[in-house]
Amino acid sequence: MPVNVAVIPVAGRGTRLIPLTKSQPKEMLPLGRRPTVQHVVQELAFSGLREMLFVTGPGKTAIENHFDIDTEMVRHLRTNGKEDLLAELDFERAEIDYFYTRQRRQLGLGHAVLCARPFVNQRPFMIALGDSLLGLNSRSDVCRRMIDHFDREGADAVIAFQKVPREEVVNYGIAQPRGDAGDVFELSDLVEKPSVEQAPSNLAVAARYICRPSIFDYLERTAPGKGGEIQLTDALRSIIQDGGRILGVQLAPGEKRYDVGNFESYFQAFVEAALADSQYGPSVAKHMRKILAEYPED
Ligand code: G1P
Repeated sequence: MPVNVAVIPVAGRGTRLIPLTKSQPKEMLPLGRRPTVQHVVQELAFSGLREMLFVTGPGKTAIENHFDIDTEMVRHLRTNGKEDLLAELDFERAEIDYFYTRQRRQLGLGHAVLCARPFVNQRPFMIALGDSLLGLNSRSDVCRRMIDHFDREGADAVIAFQKVPREEVVNYGIAQPRGDAGDVFELSDLVEKPSVEQAPSNLAVAARYICRPSIFDYLERTAPGKGGEIQLTDALRSIIQDGGRILGVQLAPGEKRYDVGNFESYFQAFVEAALADSQYGPSVAKHMRKILAEYPED
């Protein structure tokens, strides 16, 4: 069965980004000229996914509004001959179907995924965290590569991984590879946010997963873990412990993950997105070179 559906959890409150996120979803924060979540959807569409199910929560209606077709705006732009701006709304007309469900209680990522069960039903599906994107300009094919391996190898799950500096393992799900970890590798364990001492590697889960519907039964049985939340990582770990096969696909060299989870990573992502802008990137780069000369390195 082809992987057509993406579950995009966006219910998190974004507390690490207060006050920015006091009245707007962190997934709507701009990266260059598009909100973060639009980059995510376009990245998924580039890899062939056509059904997007958002798992939303309080204060997230701006996301639903963003993907609606705004006929009034289209009419206004057309009447005023703003063809260039109309092109910016092309994403509204892409052949993608949008669906929304609510996570009614904030019980963690694993619980958010479980909320997708009635919609996903018996299909394999992609999970794409709505505050993280892989590559800029929606041209990363990591999801496509994950789908290819999933189809070819019949694995129980496929997860994207990036290498992170050792001291950062505490922020991620970390893989224990079976043997040496090549571009594609099999997992023998997966641990949510281990200490630096206990981390089995520096291979960190990079916000994209493909799962079979059997994950839902595992999530139902998963007790609260790290932070008192129901962790997707723990359910995946149980699959491995039951003899299931989970593959890791590493981001290629130069393929980066951008996330808007905290101010530092958000600022870095915004700067890179502005530099990658086809129209203004070069002049922004010129400006930055100039102002950077005024910032001594520490
Ligand atoms: C979640 C997952 C973690 C993963 C990370 C980035 O953590 O629980 O395993 O490595 O996303 O994809 P969060 O950033 O929501 O705390």
